[in-house]
Amino acid sequence: MSLRIVLLAVLSTVVSSAAFAADPARGEKRFVALCGSCHSADPAVRKMSSHMKGIVGRKAASVEGVAYSTALKTSGWTWTKPLLEKYLANPKKALPGTTMMVAAGDADRADIVAYLATLK
Ligand code: HEC
Repeated sequence: MSLRIVLLAVLSTVVSSAAFAADPARGEKRFVALCGSCHSADPAVRKMSSHMKGIVGRKAASVEGVAYSTALKTSGWTWTKPLLEKYLANPKKALPGTTMMVAAGDADRADIVAYLATLK
């Protein structure tokens, strides 16, 4: 095996393990920074949009008193980790008509979703 092939194999292992090892502690920091102006983790703390407690397994647009779009209200969605990944990657593409404008980039999304899944 040439050195180049060995290096490539090592590199692809590093890249793929980085992609799968989501870090909820880092996700919490990124959530506070990127999402915290509009969402809280705590149902008692009211922000511009819904709190995230129990979001994995929760019906979309189901927090009382939150002004949701018709698109989200009629989506029929229940949030799962893969669905959150898809929505956060590009909300408008995942759900035309949604009023959430903010996406989470590739560097943060898996960590944020891993953190959201801890909010039971
Ligand atoms: C500028 C405010 C704003 C920011 C920042 C923001 N969101 Fe939102 N988010 C919204 C709004 C508004 C909605 C409601 C969308 C709709 O009704 O179509 C929403 C909806 C959601 C929902 C669905 C909630 C439910 O109750 O069904 C999730 C999940 C979500 N956002 C996650 C995030 C995450 C994670 C981040 C950070 C990467 C983030 N949001 C950043 C405004 C924001």
